[in-house]
Amino acid sequence: MAAEKWVLMVTAQTPTNIAVIKYWGKRDETLILPVNDSISVTLDPDHLCTTTTVAVSPSFDQDRMWLNGKEISLGGGRYQNCLKEIRSRACDVEDTEKGIKIEKKDWQKLHLHIASFNNFPTAAGLASSAAGFACLVFSLAKLMNLKENQSQLSAIARQGSGSACRSLFGGFVKWILGKEGNGSDSLAVQLVDEEHWNDLVIIIAVVSSRQKETSSTTGMRESVETSLLLQHRAKEVVPKRIVQMEEAIQNHDFSSFAQLTCADSNQFHAVCLDTSPPIFYMNDTSHRIISYVERWNRSVGSPQVAYTFDAGPNAVLIARNRKIATELLQRLLFFFPPNSETDLNSYVLGDKSILRDAGIDGMKDIEALPLPPEINNISAQKYSGDVNYFICTRPGGGPVLLSDDSKALLNPKSGLPKEA
Ligand code: DP6
Repeated sequence: MAAEKWVLMVTAQTPTNIAVIKYWGKRDETLILPVNDSISVTLDPDHLCTTTTVAVSPSFDQDRMWLNGKEISLGGGRYQNCLKEIRSRACDVEDTEKGIKIEKKDWQKLHLHIASFNNFPTAAGLASSAAGFACLVFSLAKLMNLKENQSQLSAIARQGSGSACRSLFGGFVKWILGKEGNGSDSLAVQLVDEEHWNDLVIIIAVVSSRQKETSSTTGMRESVETSLLLQHRAKEVVPKRIVQMEEAIQNHDFSSFAQLTCADSNQFHAVCLDTSPPIFYMNDTSHRIISYVERWNRSVGSPQVAYTFDAGPNAVLIARNRKIATELLQRLLFFFPPNSETDLNSYVLGDKSILRDAGIDGMKDIEALPLPPEINNISAQKYSGDVNYFICTRPGGGPVLLSDDSKALLNPKSGLPKEA
């Protein structure tokens, strides 16, 4: 190792993902081994992602981490497990330009600085831990020159947060539950990349909620302990659904995809209700969105939009194509118009071209939206303020390295957060 006080850094960006066949329940809490396989779609990192810079320097005297600019503790077991797993696989690293040479054994003594930033509100319940742990593992693997492939890295990210393992790939991803006691075969594999089914458009409704939700970790522990439906789901229902879902994805069979996605979301929330005491993640707004989508799908005679809800009230709506997404956004804005003081630009985020296709430029256009034909007047009430904002996005790619130094979150000389 060179004696100088050099800093070596890597910056990466990792997407978040939304499960269409849900992971709910662990058979091993420490290793984070699930009771069933799950399948997710990766969301476009342009709209929802985590950026992480990891740095190593002989001048660092402890491992430190900053999340969205604020220092957080790395003391938790999940961080410690990920760091331990990665350090044990680190290899020699040489940067001839900077005159840096790190040997495999040096990694046990060297300390790390980690800075992470989400391009979406961390508290909005949008799987920030999935993107976060995936990015931590991916960027450290690059820094420390790990030889493991992406699936093997996913088994490390899994130990940070289960759903994080699926964020190591783009497109549609399956987390295989595995059989081994040590979790070595509980990892993610890519089913298809993001180009395979690129007609799909995803609109997320970030629903207003005052309720403090039960964390996924606590919720699933209680479900495992008390819900008989969870056991039936894991043994009988999910294995068949996984096969059908893989087929639907391979064949671009939207009807089957939507039917399975909605049914699985509903069963996951039924398991939550079957838990003692029951867990309520969805609220009235979530239920309303389900009713609108169901009614629209039924009126057309085949599914146009699929819905899925994680451990919170936000709706993730998957439209079969752009035309349907445009009609979906019109319907959503009809029922959930922004408050008069809300700027449309901050009410519809992400891919705003869908808003333009929908012919919506301002409040006047929203007020002029017609009543959707499948709705009768009695249920045509509007719920302004019940949705905080919408994000228009699509299936996206997996982790990438950002070589542009200006994207780094740590100062290349001090190794401290740039804004500090
Ligand atoms: C409802 O991955 O957040 O989003 O493994 O305890 O960190 P831990 O839980 P987490 O759970 C996600 C649950 C879910 C469904 C899913 O993403 O499959």
